[in-house]
Amino acid sequence: MSGAQVLPASRPLHGTTTVPPDKAISHRGAILGALAEGTTIVRRFSGADDCRSTLDALRALGAGVERDGEAVRIDGWGPRGPTAADAVVGCGRSGTTMRLLSGAIASYPVRATLTGDPQLLARPMERIAQPLRLMGAQVDTAEGGRPPIRLVGGALRGIDYAMPIASAQVKSAVLLAGLRAAGPTTVVEPCASRDHTERLLRAMGAALESGQDGSGRPRIRLEPSSLVGVEVSVPADPSSAAPLLAAAALVPGSDLRIRDVGLNPTRTGLLAALTLMGAGVEIQESAPGGVEPAGMVRIESRPLRGIEVGAAEVPAMIDELPLLGLLATQAEGTTDVRGAEELRVKESDRIAVLVAGLRALGGDVEELPDGFVVRGPTPLRAGEVDAAGDHRMAMAFAVAGLIASGPVRVRGMETVGDSFPGFLGALEGVR
Ligand code: S3P
Repeated sequence: MSGAQVLPASRPLHGTTTVPPDKAISHRGAILGALAEGTTIVRRFSGADDCRSTLDALRALGAGVERDGEAVRIDGWGPRGPTAADAVVGCGRSGTTMRLLSGAIASYPVRATLTGDPQLLARPMERIAQPLRLMGAQVDTAEGGRPPIRLVGGALRGIDYAMPIASAQVKSAVLLAGLRAAGPTTVVEPCASRDHTERLLRAMGAALESGQDGSGRPRIRLEPSSLVGVEVSVPADPSSAAPLLAAAALVPGSDLRIRDVGLNPTRTGLLAALTLMGAGVEIQESAPGGVEPAGMVRIESRPLRGIEVGAAEVPAMIDELPLLGLLATQAEGTTDVRGAEELRVKESDRIAVLVAGLRALGGDVEELPDGFVVRGPTPLRAGEVDAAGDHRMAMAFAVAGLIASGPVRVRGMETVGDSFPGFLGALEGVR
């Protein structure tokens, strides 16, 4: 497997830059567009490999999908539903594609097999299969609850579903299935996960209410609804801004700005964590009022201190926690992350991969079943680390290379294209 070598930064990071469009919102724009009547235009659609998987999958299911530069035009299949019978739908390495699409097609009379690359075939799918079965779909997973998913859709009933895990993918799958179910669908989350699906559903005309249940847990209620096509523009991905923000927080003297970053509060956990740790964080929201808030984020390097992160804070920084672990190696004191067992079933076991990688570079890191403890500060040294085929781990380790005493070789760097094509060039551009 190919790798890349990252050299220590010789001077502070500075300037104003941009990062690619949001992956999660791009997936949703395309999938909800396929469900809608009429045409949906998604401007600044992500160029990430995962989002290409979504477009390919929608084409396989008979939706009209045209890409013109950064814009994607989706001609929805509307009430007639996906046209391809007995479709084999490849989802690449994208868990979001597989989970959201399963919910999106479950209410139509389809037979489909959702499959993907070996990495995706190792990920848990019972989390969506179970609620979809409760709604009346026939959903079979392979051994251990893994893909491929064999799905026979049909008339569904709405359910009241208390989600055992805070997962936006599970929540989205249930809500998308609920659009054409008989009766309302209610989802209660243990704590708030990203709400991009809810925002877009509302913008496309769905009758959806977000509130809380009697115990203060987030609760979403959806009435059966039809969707109408819209035009949306996707802000820059806060999860792709994150490695550059972490880099600027870590390299002394840095002062970096990133434009038009998505500022949805269910995604900005790393910004809150950086502020608590002592980094200089300034946020200027541009004209609010769109489907998703966005604005400029400025970060200045300052001495960092350790923080505690618990289950309630995890979803808003779920994909940024490897970077938090890296930041913690340079923070004074202890950083304690718990309630993050979901990290073990991402594109890799991110707890194990993070702990092994940071230790190989000299970090003082302890592995917990549901998180990790980092004691800092410790200088990082040159070395070789394995990203285990996981784009987010590859980016976190590349950032580690900027502050190590010598070159850091990252195995598996090529996977960054799953979310951030051109990542190393972008990092180069600000150093
Ligand atoms: C995503 C939700 C998160 C996240 C993933 C993308 C989404 O997963 O880790 O990268 O787009 O809904 P879970 O919902 O499973 O926590």
